[in-house]
Amino acid sequence: MSEYIFDKIDKGLHRLPDHPLGILKAVIENYFTSQHTEKGAFVMFDDLAPVVTTYANFDSVLVPADHVSRSTNDTYYVTEDTVLRCHTSAHQLELLKNGHRQFLVTGDVYRRDSIDATHFPVFHQVEGVRVFEPHEWESRNISSLELASTELKTTLEGLVRHLFGDCEMRWVDAYFPFTEPSYELEIFFQGEWLEVLGCGVMQSSILDNASLGDRRAWAFGLGLERLAMILFDIPDIRLFWTSDTRFSAQFSAGMFKAGGVGMKKFSSYSKYPPCYKDASFWLPDDSSFTENTLCELVRDAAGSLVEEVKLIDEFTNPKLGRTSNCYRFTYRSMERSLTDEEVNKIQEVVRARLESELRVTLR
Ligand code: DAH
Repeated sequence: MSEYIFDKIDKGLHRLPDHPLGILKAVIENYFTSQHTEKGAFVMFDDLAPVVTTYANFDSVLVPADHVSRSTNDTYYVTEDTVLRCHTSAHQLELLKNGHRQFLVTGDVYRRDSIDATHFPVFHQVEGVRVFEPHEWESRNISSLELASTELKTTLEGLVRHLFGDCEMRWVDAYFPFTEPSYELEIFFQGEWLEVLGCGVMQSSILDNASLGDRRAWAFGLGLERLAMILFDIPDIRLFWTSDTRFSAQFSAGMFKAGGVGMKKFSSYSKYPPCYKDASFWLPDDSSFTENTLCELVRDAAGSLVEEVKLIDEFTNPKLGRTSNCYRFTYRSMERSLTDEEVNKIQEVVRARLESELRVTLR
């Protein structure tokens, strides 16, 4: 795992009350605090450690043994059997086993990914779970599945109205290994359909594993950055990590208004100029090269100074049977103008490491 990622662990942006992620988390928690059930209030967790076992991250939520998300190309392994969680669903089973029946978990999650204005290897999710007892569906004369899915839908539609105000919504069938049926909730916002969250009725075998085989439950998960970018008009995901006061001074606890209506949105200060660097190289003969590995290497060398990594040309020489890629790297600081000298230095490091670690042949 790179130094760069390591440095992000325990920043706890979602625990800062005046940070857009902390503000949004509080708004979501407030909604669930207002949702009293016969079990009382939802319990909120926001400081569960991000290093979890592969069992918790994958097996406990029924991720198949051969699923791509288990690969080292997608997930950060700390040891052979511990990872930086790639979703907050990793905590479902453990919390059920600890006796919790309705809770939210907010936390930082980690995924190796491509680099652009909406992707960052660390982001934040909110997970919610609510368990129902047999008497709750029996007294209503409906099936447990019907109760759980109806309650799921009304609760989450309420959440979306709490966040976005009155808006058009639609339920889309989805697939998650840990729920059946599974859905995504989309809203029509500023002229387009946006996915807001994933959810479903929890697979019975998860409840079985928590010795809750006669119960039913719903679960949902959502990403905070994407929603915060939409609601506050934040144009680049790296801004969440900046220490520039021109960013932080624009946010304060309690500023939020549903749908951003009547709320002072983020006003972008002028961006510093970008600096583009291209690199062309032959890929190694085996299939070891992946874009995620390239991006990880660039993140490590450039930190948050890299804005985008984009494949701009690719061709295969049929005679040699070799493939060449040309990538464009966009470097830009959110805080200051970069000098040619420092960008050249970063690019030198990237090129050297491309050859030594990814075994490409620079052209
Ligand atoms: N874990 C999913 C993800 O990271 C999100 C999710 C979907 C969580 C459905 C849930 C759920 O609890 O029921 O994409």
